[in-house]
Amino acid sequence: MITETELNIGLFGYGVVGKGFYNLIQLHPELAINTQQIVVKHEANHLLDENQNLSYEANIILADTNLKTVVEVINNNNDALAIAKKVLGDGNTLVTANKRMLAENFEELYALLKSNGGKLFYEASSAASIPIIKILDEYFANENIHSVEGILNGTSNYILSGIFNQNLNYNQALKQAQELGFAESDPTLDVEGLDALNKLVIINAHAFGVIVKPTDVFNYGITRIGNDDILYAKNNGFIIKLVAHASVNIQGKLLLYVAPQFVKSSEQLYHVNAENNGVVVNAEFSGEQFYYGKGAGSKPTGAAVLADVISSKKSNGYGYTKLRKQNFIKYDIFQQVKVYVRYNKNIDIDLLELDIEENLSFENSRAVKGKIYLNKLYEYKNWLESNDISVIIFS
Ligand SMILES: NC(=O)c1ccc[n+]([C@@H]2O[C@H](COP(=O)([O-])OP(=O)(O)OC[C@H]3O[C@@H](n4cnc5c(N)ncnc54)[C@H](OP(=O)(O)O)[C@@H]3O)[C@@H](O)[C@H]2O)c1
Repeated sequence: MITETELNIGLFGYGVVGKGFYNLIQLHPELAINTQQIVVKHEANHLLDENQNLSYEANIILADTNLKTVVEVINNNNDALAIAKKVLGDGNTLVTANKRMLAENFEELYALLKSNGGKLFYEASSAASIPIIKILDEYFANENIHSVEGILNGTSNYILSGIFNQNLNYNQALKQAQELGFAESDPTLDVEGLDALNKLVIINAHAFGVIVKPTDVFNYGITRIGNDDILYAKNNGFIIKLVAHASVNIQGKLLLYVAPQFVKSSEQLYHVNAENNGVVVNAEFSGEQFYYGKGAGSKPTGAAVLADVISSKKSNGYGYTKLRKQNFIKYDIFQQVKVYVRYNKNIDIDLLELDIEENLSFENSRAVKGKIYLNKLYEYKNWLESNDISVIIFS
C-alpha cells in the first residue's frame, strides 16, 4: 500500500461542504490528512455537533506557523477574502470553494499569488465535482478554445427541468427544489444567474486568459420566463436552460453572458437535467468535449476540495498559461447575439434597438426575434428586470 506523507490542515467552515470534506477524510485515513483545527462562526449552530475540534477563533489557524495549508469553505465573502489574503500573503496554500470571493477579487488574488509564492486551488468553486478548471488550465493550456458553455447552477437547472420535463409551473418547480434541498429558502443568487456568473468569470480566466469583473458581464435569470415562452420553446423543439456562455471570434473578441437560452435536442446541454451541471468546450484541435456531473452537494463538493488538497501536496497550483501569455483576446460587450424578447403589449421596446427578424403575437403579449447588441441588454438590465419582459438567447 502506498502511504501518503502526512498533511496538517486548518479548516474554516463546517457546513454543507465542510462536513462533506471532513467526513471524506475520516473515511480515508490512508490519505494522512489531519484536521485538528476547525474554525466556525456561531456557537449556537454547533451545540449538537460531536466534533471536538471546533473553535471560533480564526487565529487558531491563521497564527499557527505550522499550518501551511488552509481549506476555506465558509459562506461569508468578506471573511473569506480576509482569510485568502492572509494565507496567500504568508506564501501558504489555500483551497477554497468560494466562487463569489474568487470572481470578485480574481485580479488581486492572482497578483498576490505571483508576488508571494503561495498556492491557490479552487476546483470546487465551479461545477463542483466536474474538474473543469484543471481541464482548462492544464489540458487546454496550449490549445486555443473557441467556446465554453455551461449549465453551472443546479438550482436553476432543477427548476427548468421541472418546468420542461414534468410540466410544473415556476413556483411548483421552485417549491419542489426547496423541499429536496436543491434550492435555498432565498434562491435569488441562483435563479437570477449571479452564482453562474461568478463561475463563468473563473472559468473564463482559465479558458481565455482574460480576467473580467462579474459586474461587467450581462447576466439575466430565469424568473421572468413565462407560459408563452415555454410554449414557444416547446412548439419549436427547444427547451430553455440557464446558460453561462464564453466564446471568442476570429478577431479575438470575447463574448460573455449568463442568460436563459433556447437549446435543441442535438446539443449536449439539452440532456443535462435536474440538479446536474454540464460544460461543453469547443477547442481548435480537440473539437467538442462535454463534461457532466454533480455541481453541488456535500460529498461531491467535499470530494473536489479533497482532490485539491491532495493536488496541493505535489503541485504548485494552476499554471495560468493563458493569463501569462501575450493575449490577443479582449472582452467586448459590443457584439450582437440572436435573441427572443417577449414583452407585455403596453411596453415599448424600441430603446433596445433590435434588428428585428420576426414578430410573434401571443394572447397577452408580443415577442420579437432578432439581433441585439449585448451592451444594450447590459445597459437596460434593470429596466428589463423591472418590467414584464422575458429575454432568451438563441445558441
Ligand atoms: N453547498 C454546495 O453544494 C456548494 C458547492 C460549491 C461551492 N460551495 C461554496 O462553498 C462555501 C461553503 O458553502 P456551504 O454550502 O458549505 O455553506 P454553509 O452550509 O452555509 O456553511 C458555512 C459554514 O461557514 C462557517 N462560517 C461562516 N463565516 C465564518 C467565519 N468567518 N469563520 C469561520 N467559519 C465561518 C459557518 O459557521 P457557523 O455554522 O458557525 O455559522 C458554517 O459552518 C460557499 O462559498 C459556497 O458558495 C458550496
